[in-house]
Amino acid sequence: MASLHPHNGTTNTDSKPKPKPEPITESEIRSEFSHHDPTIARINNGSFGCCPATIIAAQNRHQLLFLRQPDHFYFNTLKPSILRTRRLIQTLINADHLDEVSIVDNATTAAAIVLQNITWSFFTSIFNPGDAALILHYAYGAVKKSVQAYITRAGGHVIEVHLPFPVRSSSDIVFEFQKALHMGKANGRKIRLAVIDHITSMPCVIIPVKELVRMCRDEGVDRIFIDGAHAIGNIDIDVKDIGADFYTSNLHKWLFCPPSAAFLYCKMSDELSNLHHPVVSHEYGNGLAMESAWIGTRDYSAQLVLPEVMEFVERFDGGIEGIMKRNHEKVVEMAEMLVEAWVTELGAPPEMCASLAMVGLPVCLGIKSDGDALRLRKHLRECFKVEVPIYYRAPVEGEVGSIITGYARISHQVYNVVEDYYRFRDAVNKLVKDGFTCALLTK
Ligand SMILES: Cc1ncc(COP(=O)(O)O)c(C=O)c1O
Repeated sequence: MASLHPHNGTTNTDSKPKPKPEPITESEIRSEFSHHDPTIARINNGSFGCCPATIIAAQNRHQLLFLRQPDHFYFNTLKPSILRTRRLIQTLINADHLDEVSIVDNATTAAAIVLQNITWSFFTSIFNPGDAALILHYAYGAVKKSVQAYITRAGGHVIEVHLPFPVRSSSDIVFEFQKALHMGKANGRKIRLAVIDHITSMPCVIIPVKELVRMCRDEGVDRIFIDGAHAIGNIDIDVKDIGADFYTSNLHKWLFCPPSAAFLYCKMSDELSNLHHPVVSHEYGNGLAMESAWIGTRDYSAQLVLPEVMEFVERFDGGIEGIMKRNHEKVVEMAEMLVEAWVTELGAPPEMCASLAMVGLPVCLGIKSDGDALRLRKHLRECFKVEVPIYYRAPVEGEVGSIITGYARISHQVYNVVEDYYRFRDAVNKLVKDGFTCALLTK
């Protein structure tokens, strides 16, 4: 990611260098997140992200600016402020043109924009009934539903790519994807769209998107949408290098924005003018970025705080790059500590882990269904004050021996301390020692 001037979204070369911000101290970090429930070991930054006090205060200032003089805010402040956010994103993701970057509410909205566009290609006979969309089996549930709502209803066929888990290397993923592409095209079917996660949600692994995009291009897939909901602030994003047509990421997961804000990158093409926000406003027809910047009267403040966020991250050694690096190193260290304590294994090698890692849980916990996984998560929250998502991995046909069927998705963000993970370790150790199994949990 590029280093940015935090106020105007330009690189430091075209403005006077700003004095380096004061490095943040440990006690300031604690104070920035002092609104977090202090009783909870929060090792689930993946689901909802986090927002420091400085940014909440900045959001509040934007909200008050609106409430103080809404007409002035609407006519003079909102558009330039969203433009500033778009410029910052453009630099962060290495997009060529500002028009390629729109700010939307969340990845769910971004998916609706892209998939609605594909629907229109079916309605206008650019695509034909039976043409396919390819999606990972591990795609986020809401995005899968969106594919169902927009593609299946329009007459499209959906191909799910089954990926191995635990995963040993990214070449396993490349192999399965290639197989699915070939099988998808086997009877002359055209694959019109590929939806590929950059970091899958559950189970959580980094997907080699650049390689998969290249394979899609080689096989003539018309459009490629990368769901990078977890990516910005977690791993590097270079949209030019990745080469997809569409890329979205939430700013509220790993980039410290309040809920909710995301960007949608749409590569410059003739198609860009056919993309529309599903919520139609006065801005309809003025380009997706403009349409997205006004979807009716609402609170836009979460989309406006990115300059303050960039200032915040600059207080950490190495800025956002430094944060990402340390989060990754720390989550791997903690994951390895846990697998050693429980004598289990990681769900993916460290280089496929970002700031999130899948940690195998002891087999004796008896996790035998998605329901068990959910109930165990609730049990950990209520009885041990640990917030961590649990994944149920069904045994594959032919597997024998004691197979790990439960994995915890742990995360590391700047507010975490080693005690959060020790609490989780000790909670599971106690469950094991007490002879607990999920069968004991009824609701
Ligand atoms: C891979 C993936 N895609 C999409 C989403 C949806 O994000 P949001 O609820 O912010 O729209 C999520 C949320 O966790 C996700 O993990």
